[in-house]
Amino acid sequence: MASGDIMNEIKTISQAIEHVVDPSSGKPLKDTDAVKHVAIDDEKNAVTLVIGVKKVDETTKQQLTRSLAKIIKIDLGYRGLKIDFQRVVDEDSLLNKARDIKYIGIASGKGGVGKSTVAANLALALTRIGKRVGIIDADVYGSSIPTIFNMEIKLPKANADEKIIPFAHEGIEIISTEFFLKDNKPLMWRGPMLGKMLNHFFEDIAWHQDIEYMIVDLPPGTGDVAMDIQKLIPQSKMLIITTPHPSASHVAIKAGYAAKELNHELLGVVENMSVFHHNGESITIFGEGGGAEVAERLETDLLAQIPIGQPESGHHSLYGMEEPIGIDYLGLANKLIKSL
Ligand SMILES: Nc1ncnc2c1ncn2[C@@H]1O[C@H](COP(=O)(O)OP(=O)(O)OP(=O)(O)O)[C@@H](O)[C@H]1O
Ligand SMILES: [Mg+2]
Repeated sequence: MASGDIMNEIKTISQAIEHVVDPSSGKPLKDTDAVKHVAIDDEKNAVTLVIGVKKVDETTKQQLTRSLAKIIKIDLGYRGLKIDFQRVVDEDSLLNKARDIKYIGIASGKGGVGKSTVAANLALALTRIGKRVGIIDADVYGSSIPTIFNMEIKLPKANADEKIIPFAHEGIEIISTEFFLKDNKPLMWRGPMLGKMLNHFFEDIAWHQDIEYMIVDLPPGTGDVAMDIQKLIPQSKMLIITTPHPSASHVAIKAGYAAKELNHELLGVVENMSVFHHNGESITIFGEGGGAEVAERLETDLLAQIPIGQPESGHHSLYGMEEPIGIDYLGLANKLIKSL
């Protein structure tokens, strides 16, 4: 038989069996890419298959052998059939879930521009829209996410798999460097210790399986720690925070370039503390144009301009969903959902 005919035969067999369901995973062979190999022995008129299954147990082997034999022997008319079963890791249940999470890294050049405030309010806005959100507070210099959410500082517990269980607040799951510090001491760890802890943050947390958005409050600047963290989350897309003032926008541009160099896609720019509305007037306390300049220089969009203002609820940082700044955050969240 010509080799082209063999190829056609193999194709016909593959197509005929791809809809058979692997009882151990409940999925058709096609979905799990389970048909690893098809060979035909022309002389003996026999087919050899290598099939990847989630579990190689007797039930799985018997059921699959029966379904495959029906197709190969009865429908397609081959005399012999040999099947090799191989166990394959079900990447779908492990990795795809994790891969589905959309990481939003919150970066700024300068400290104090409102990175954590934006991170927290953005998380809240996404939750209000019905999304499941987690926050990784990776600002090792001055983590403030627990303070913003009025959270008690205590060591998180671990589950049976030795994964750390994050704390939840307003439906948002939160993990912070702060939970791992004793007596509020500033974090002076460097090198391996710091790297180790941050690795835990990205690998050993038992996040809720339905989390769709993970907001990462990054340390300010373009220094080693910021770079290390950005490398730990290569899939993260970056939101750059600045104020209208040149002192902030200049460094924000640098942070944006650093992110681009690490191949992080930029989501856009948020200009925080943009204006102060008072008695019908808009006062530009911190100058003007910083956000637009950063967006232009980084060739991305200015997604939001958040005015200066205290939350009406009396909370120090979190805005209600009906007050103007709360509505600005809903707008930002909606834009991000669309572009992600
Ligand atoms: N739009 C705003 N209007 C009024 N106050 C704000 C606004 N944004 C942030 N702030 C206040 O400014 C201060 C700094 O904000 P925040 O801690 O979020 O900045 P940061 O960039 O995370 O700072 P750090 O570099 O220390 O982590 C906080 O007291 C916060 O409540
Ligand atoms: Mg902060």
